[in-house]
Amino acid sequence: MKVSVAGTGNVAQYLIEEIPKYGHELVVLTRKEKPGKIYTQRATDYSLASLISILDDLGVEALVSTIADFENPPVATRIHFDMLEACKQSKICKSYIPSEWTCDVLNYPEQPMFLAEANKKLHDALKQSQDIRWTIFANSWFMDYIVPASQRYLRDIGALWPMDHTTKVFTIYGPGDQLFSVCSVRDAAKAIAALLGTSEPWDPYTFVAGDHITLSGLFSAMKRRDPSWKSKTKSLAETLKPIIENTSSEAAMLSYFELLIYSGASNLPRAEVLRQRTKYFPNLHFQTVEELLSLAEAHPGTIV
Ligand SMILES: NC(=O)c1ccc[n+]([C@@H]2O[C@H](COP(=O)([O-])OP(=O)(O)OC[C@H]3O[C@@H](n4cnc5c(N)ncnc54)[C@H](OP(=O)(O)O)[C@@H]3O)[C@@H](O)[C@H]2O)c1
Repeated sequence: MKVSVAGTGNVAQYLIEEIPKYGHELVVLTRKEKPGKIYTQRATDYSLASLISILDDLGVEALVSTIADFENPPVATRIHFDMLEACKQSKICKSYIPSEWTCDVLNYPEQPMFLAEANKKLHDALKQSQDIRWTIFANSWFMDYIVPASQRYLRDIGALWPMDHTTKVFTIYGPGDQLFSVCSVRDAAKAIAALLGTSEPWDPYTFVAGDHITLSGLFSAMKRRDPSWKSKTKSLAETLKPIIENTSSEAAMLSYFELLIYSGASNLPRAEVLRQRTKYFPNLHFQTVEELLSLAEAHPGTIV
């Protein structure tokens, strides 16, 4: 199948590496072609006309988006509606996975709170698009933040992830016993490649996870391998304060991310993860936290 990955950022790197291994032909969409790349690229301004012409001229059958504009989220929202419309109008491209890479938005559609309104509109539009094969891909937290920055394409996201690899301080917020799900980005990319090739109809929500763990459990796993890791605690009141006092959008963003774990929205429905694993990914092994840490230790200096 000819597949377009839109965007060339952190998550895209894994898709670009994994999708061709599953026999798919890859075309990368980008605002500006990057020199020295071995993959096929097409520059686009993501207007509807540009998208339709690229998809149909190149015979693209599936569009997987990794587009994110953290400075101006409404731009990314507009692009995702145009991508859906492009798939509707395209003669060939009838499969579409928008860039969510998200938590359990089936059971917690109000989260992540800063994106919920835009997400709901897109999900509603997708649900009315009977002629398009689509799914909302939910991997909860990408597991790769547990390995050093040099071993992942994902950039550091500061306090949004509770581990600081530089100071080796792990922030346990709340009781630390809330379960949340994690999936390595590479496994998520493999799952996307497998999903693109399946003849099974897609579910509206696809849940993938390699592990379900607590903050305390993750801290213990890190400390067992490196005793210099230390923990500090953060209360629910500290998490809520920036939202209640409306301090700054950055501080509120951190609170919204922490609420994902507090509320259970980061804990993907286990039965559904297992059911979909059997249905769509019977040949795929999803790495656990211990497996990813061991892999990173065994191959220092490589992206795992
Ligand atoms: N669940 C998790 O733990 C987790 C972690 C990380 C990311 N994510 C999600 O994964 C998605 C991708 O994240 P990422 O880290 O890969 O982002 P990223 O590295 O910032 O890449 C996003 C790409 O989108 C394109 N882009 C940016 N602004 C644009 C604009 N205004 N118009 C059109 N294209 C634009 C750029 O590609 P070009 O320069 O090639 O145009 C950019 O490289 C996001 O939805 C993010 O929320 C989830």
